[in-house]
Amino acid sequence: MNLKEHIRVIPDFPQLGIRFKDITTLLNNGPVYKEVIDTLADHYRDKGIELVAGPEARGFVIGAPLAYALGIGFVPIRKSGKLPGETIEAGYDLEYGKDKLAVHKDSIRPGQRVLIADDLLATGGTISTTLNLIRQLGGEIAGAAFLIELSYLNGREKLDGIDVVSLVQY
Ligand code: PRP
Repeated sequence: MNLKEHIRVIPDFPQLGIRFKDITTLLNNGPVYKEVIDTLADHYRDKGIELVAGPEARGFVIGAPLAYALGIGFVPIRKSGKLPGETIEAGYDLEYGKDKLAVHKDSIRPGQRVLIADDLLATGGTISTTLNLIRQLGGEIAGAAFLIELSYLNGREKLDGIDVVSLVQY
């Protein structure tokens, strides 16, 4: 299946010069969405992964069904101010803008093997912040899974030593 055919590219969103990769067209197509999750689940099954963590919001769309397919728990990494319990937070720069991510302190036990999942690896800022939070809680990073990788932004370089899987590259 050619997944690229199902991803809509929108020029100049949210800023002039950015070619936005819109996955809503892919999500809208049940068999294609299922293929994405099943492909990732097949890759990570029987690898001793205990949790999937995904950053808000599009990381939930990939991470939560992946956790469900693997029969393991999901840890939402949320934008600051959204989680009600005790959290730790970290700030980061985005491809366009700045943000802060948070995780519940009790969502990962030290030594648990955590797979990170998101729709897109761009500069790697979101994922390295997510990594950071998981490691601060004592979690072990089992890998990082993406639907899309923007190779020209070299986000992979920020994930040195981590097994990175992406299904579509630009
Ligand atoms: C997008 C995307 C990734 C991140 C990738 O999320 O879903 O999480 O940017 O960029 P990076 O590798 O340069 O950090 P965004 O922050 O736009 O939030 P959203 O998922 O809520 O739309």
